[in-house]
Amino acid sequence: MTNTAITPEAVRQVLSELKDPETGRTLGKTDQVGAINVSGDKIDCEIKLCTHSFPIRDEFADSAAERLRVRFPAAASVAVKISEHERPPVAIGQIGLQVKSVIAVGSGKGGVGKSTVATSIALSLSKAGAKVGLMDADVYGPSVPHLLGMKGRPEVINNKIQPLYSGSMPVMSMGFLVEPDQAVIWRGPMLHGSITQFLRDTYWGPLDYLIIDMPPGTGDIALTLSQLIPLAGAVVVCTPQQVALLDAVKAISMFRKTKIPLLGMVENMSGFICPDNGKRYDIFGHGGARLKAEELEVPFLGEVPLNMQMREKSDEGFIANALEDPICSSAFDKIVRAMVRQVNQRAAVAPGPSLPVL
Ligand SMILES: Nc1ncnc2c1ncn2[C@@H]1O[C@H](COP(=O)(O)OP(=O)(O)O)[C@@H](O)[C@H]1O
Ligand SMILES: [Mg+2]
Repeated sequence: MTNTAITPEAVRQVLSELKDPETGRTLGKTDQVGAINVSGDKIDCEIKLCTHSFPIRDEFADSAAERLRVRFPAAASVAVKISEHERPPVAIGQIGLQVKSVIAVGSGKGGVGKSTVATSIALSLSKAGAKVGLMDADVYGPSVPHLLGMKGRPEVINNKIQPLYSGSMPVMSMGFLVEPDQAVIWRGPMLHGSITQFLRDTYWGPLDYLIIDMPPGTGDIALTLSQLIPLAGAVVVCTPQQVALLDAVKAISMFRKTKIPLLGMVENMSGFICPDNGKRYDIFGHGGARLKAEELEVPFLGEVPLNMQMREKSDEGFIANALEDPICSSAFDKIVRAMVRQVNQRAAVAPGPSLPVL
């Protein structure tokens, strides 16, 4: 097919056969091929994707352009623009949550940067244009309000808890309900109840992603979650040292037991790049999580280096500013893209209720 004539119809045909990363269905079937302009040997076209796919929009546009270049070798230029396609989430689980992908971020133990990673993943997804909510399920040590510099008490309107907003992102945390210095002693049923309430009774609105910062190590919360809603999967955060890795193995087996799919592992505090000389120092080691992920047959999503901005800005409640640091932002953008690819792959293998055709 070397000399295929470049016509809008031929271009449309090629684009129609591409698969929507979210649903796995061809774009032609769901009317997601937009305007096409062919002038001489120049192709300008538009593909519509839902905001759920926006974190991987550039790679999708690149692969579409590549497909066109292969099919039309005579094309002098190919430009693919991505615009928004509306496909609202269908309500999932018995509680009818209107979220396309619910993702739990867990770790075997505290202090590995789970809340930092969960919050940064939520912010990166949101920056990419996806609609994101963040639920702090770490009722023992809620730190999301602190990281985002949020204060206030949620109101209840029409029997729904109104989350607080960080920019456009709804956030719910036990930290909004108890004083920071108040010790919370949870018994099993209360824990179960609070997680259920956070999910079922909070007005999350329609979302692409709900990121859940899990309490460290506790299998009962994972079980509660898995019974309430179908989760897109879990991300396990660990640091490179062996001790922390052993805890990560426990977290992985906990998610496996509760049949929550594993989207992958993230290695946090992975090396330190010295701002003075640009040299890398592997304070806690490096690469351990990648090896462990391979051994356990869990995808490896990426590494986040130790970063002074990250620590300082988080403590001041401006974690979003730390993400402007190019090292941090590129680390999280990469992790988020790998995570979204995993969500899509799993959905394509087992299309569930989160994949409606509209
Ligand atoms: N990549 C990183 N670089 C620098 N500091 C980090 C990094 N990740 C986490 N921290 C810091 O480590 C501490 C623990 O992080 P946190 O996210 O609260 O851990 P966890 O939720 O696992 O208990 C916080 O002070 C946080 O700012
Ligand atoms: Mg935490």
